[in-house]
Amino acid sequence: MFSVGSCNQTYLLLFVLVVMGVASLEAPSACPCEEKFLERIQDLERKVNEMYLDSDKLTTKMLDTIESVDKLLASGVAGVGPLAAKQRQIVSFTVRTSKNLPYLSESEVIKFDDVLVNNGGAYDKHTGIFTSPVSGVYLFSASILSGFNSTIETMITLNGQHDVSRIYSGAFKNRGYGSNTVVLNLRKGDEVSVAVFYGNGNYVHGKWSTFCGTLLETY
Ligand SMILES: *[C@@H]1O[C@H](CO)[C@@H](O)[C@H](O)[C@H]1NC(C)=O
Repeated sequence: MFSVGSCNQTYLLLFVLVVMGVASLEAPSACPCEEKFLERIQDLERKVNEMYLDSDKLTTKMLDTIESVDKLLASGVAGVGPLAAKQRQIVSFTVRTSKNLPYLSESEVIKFDDVLVNNGGAYDKHTGIFTSPVSGVYLFSASILSGFNSTIETMITLNGQHDVSRIYSGAFKNRGYGSNTVVLNLRKGDEVSVAVFYGNGNYVHGKWSTFCGTLLETY
């Protein structure tokens, strides 16, 4: 990711300096005596040596920098690299109902008790509530299958009050699916769940009804 362009620049600078030195030597001088000439050559030699030393220091510093950047990349401290993913907050869950849920009351939170995935542990199967562990952009989706020949209206809710997406499930002489997906900007501590929107049928078919969510990106 680093070129050695700055080394070339250093050599170019050296070259220019030498040319300038030679040019100034060739220029008519007020005192062209040998001593003065030697003095100037020595002065030039000293300067060239200093520049070589500077160039060496620069190269060493550059190699050190490359080494530390490589180390940062490997450790993930810079926010990229293999270990960075491990340090990032991983939040995602998939849950489903293990059994049929009849007789649900209005606004009742559906408890998806069969936890398939719960990375970060933000979903609580005892309450059915997902609590945002970090502010960010999240995606949630719920699919609800109704009971036979009945309907149920549910909703994805934010903080127990706002229905952010409604789901209608039902069919005549059959079971019917309803689903919805939302992207939400959540603050840390916000709660998301699936609750009964309107108590009509009050029946969620077990194992076929799922709720999932994932953190897309933190703020
Ligand atoms: C389906 O529901 C309708 C309306 O509630 C009812 O009249 C009908 O008998 C039901 N059919 C079956 C097969 O359960």
